[in-house]
Amino acid sequence: MEKQKRPGSAAFVIFGAAGDLAWRKLIPALYNLYLDSWMPDQFLVLGVDRSDMSDSKFRDHLRKGVDQFSRRGKSESKEWSAFAENLFYLKADLRKDETYNDLSKRLSSQDKKWDTHANRIFYLAVPPSMIESITEGLAKAKLHKDRERARVVVEKPFGHDLESAKKLNQHLTSEFKESQLFRIDHYLGKETVQNILAFRFGNSMFEPIWNRQHIDHVQITVAERVGVGHRGGYYEQAGALRDMIQNHLLQILCLIAMEAPVTFDANEVRNKKVDVLHAIRPIFPEQVHHMAARGQYGGGWIEGEHVPAYRSEPDVAEGSDTETYASVKFYVDNWRWQGVPFYLRTGKRMPVKTSEVVIQFRPVPHQTFPAAALLDWRPNRLLIAIQPEEGILLRFGVKHPGPSIHLSPVMMQFYYREAFKAKPPEAYETLLLDVMWGDATLFMRADQSEAAWSVIAPVLEVWGSVKSTDFPNYPAGSWGPEEADILIAQDGNTWVVPTLLQCREDIAVCSVTTELES
Ligand SMILES: NC(=O)c1ccc[n+]([C@@H]2O[C@H](COP(=O)([O-])OP(=O)(O)OC[C@H]3O[C@@H](n4cnc5c(N)ncnc54)[C@H](OP(=O)(O)O)[C@@H]3O)[C@@H](O)[C@H]2O)c1
Repeated sequence: MEKQKRPGSAAFVIFGAAGDLAWRKLIPALYNLYLDSWMPDQFLVLGVDRSDMSDSKFRDHLRKGVDQFSRRGKSESKEWSAFAENLFYLKADLRKDETYNDLSKRLSSQDKKWDTHANRIFYLAVPPSMIESITEGLAKAKLHKDRERARVVVEKPFGHDLESAKKLNQHLTSEFKESQLFRIDHYLGKETVQNILAFRFGNSMFEPIWNRQHIDHVQITVAERVGVGHRGGYYEQAGALRDMIQNHLLQILCLIAMEAPVTFDANEVRNKKVDVLHAIRPIFPEQVHHMAARGQYGGGWIEGEHVPAYRSEPDVAEGSDTETYASVKFYVDNWRWQGVPFYLRTGKRMPVKTSEVVIQFRPVPHQTFPAAALLDWRPNRLLIAIQPEEGILLRFGVKHPGPSIHLSPVMMQFYYREAFKAKPPEAYETLLLDVMWGDATLFMRADQSEAAWSVIAPVLEVWGSVKSTDFPNYPAGSWGPEEADILIAQDGNTWVVPTLLQCREDIAVCSVTTELES
């Protein structure tokens, strides 16, 4: 897809525009696209919600969000005013048919003004319970008819389990063509996540070793330092497995494990990813206890501050059985990956916020050097740091300077910010621009989302039916429960302490703290 030009005219309709997502993510992303001259020459953003607001109150509200959450910091008056001229608000009940008739009239009159058929992007920034009402409303008002230009963006969660995901997909595809549907998983818009594809398939040197002959195991960690905060009500129904592993972590696994696509076409890339999900070895219910570990945080200390236990958070049941930590071991049963474990873990109230992938290579087949030279020797390791800083690090052994032979591990480091002297765009910027272009490469197709639910279904089932007996089983500020250490230790491995990349904003200087000895 040619992406050198700005996308064509677009009407961005945000359902739930007075909510948190629009405030913190969508409008700051659209504003940054505007500042970077990526927005179409003709565009409007029409926020639809039920609270009472004028256009000007809506704009003021959104500006506060931009000032707080934009990667560029506070907005400049001149630029903001020019952007804000394109923002409008419609107070409406999303359950009523008349809302969509009004919308249809408004969009048609805008098309007339612009003298074009603009792309119409319907962004569902609403609770999942509203999806059916909105898509039915759009269909009744015939707003779905233009298969090329009418697009619907659906936020996660896509269902609660395999059955509900199938039902949701059946509903969506009964009104819209799959090519009109953009199921967003913002992780896939992150620069480093996309860079996994560039790194793997834009370089010839890694591909020959990217397989079971050379790779011992893979670890994928997404750790959050925050607790559940004000999202207790939602989280009680979700848990870490649904909230993170089913989508973000399995998507990263797909990018690491997929075969090379023939072209960078949306369906080709997604076909290759879905192949990985289909190749994941099923976990039978009786295996769950040694293929997966769950945890829930108790009270603890983070950076000198005492933080409450999950069960003491707002809207969380006193005896809640919801996991705030999950780790699962997967095998991908194909020629490339047979026998290579992929360890995935995610948790809240971990010591640091970090996301990274560790590719652990096998040890050399024969040690040439005497034992005394190898005291610090470690096998090769590739680290792909996704957040907060973005970079790629390769560990290899060198001779320590001195008269005797002594091998030491060192790091070869690449940092995005240092190499390109710029902060990468936010994931939502990339994804919203892709929606305007109609490029679905980074979005989840129905079969991908269902395959991911199938992969975790047995674990969900066992955890749902067998109550944990030891929750809370890890203190806030730790790396999770003992069971997770046992899960990986069964194979003679240990979790890698995440690498902390720290880059200074003012000058391009990066440093790395890592456990070379692990
Ligand atoms: N916030 C995030 O960072 C984030 C991140 C990832 C995914 N998501 C997903 O994005 C979606 C939106 O999340 P959110 O945090 O923005 O939710 P939110 O803050 O609750 O916003 C939803 C908005 O929709 C409005 N609404 C609900 N029912 C309506 C109706 N019948 N008519 C008109 N307006 C109605 C709500 O109004 P009331 O307040 O009056 O109910 C609210 O303003 C969810 O699916 C969530 O899972 C959010």
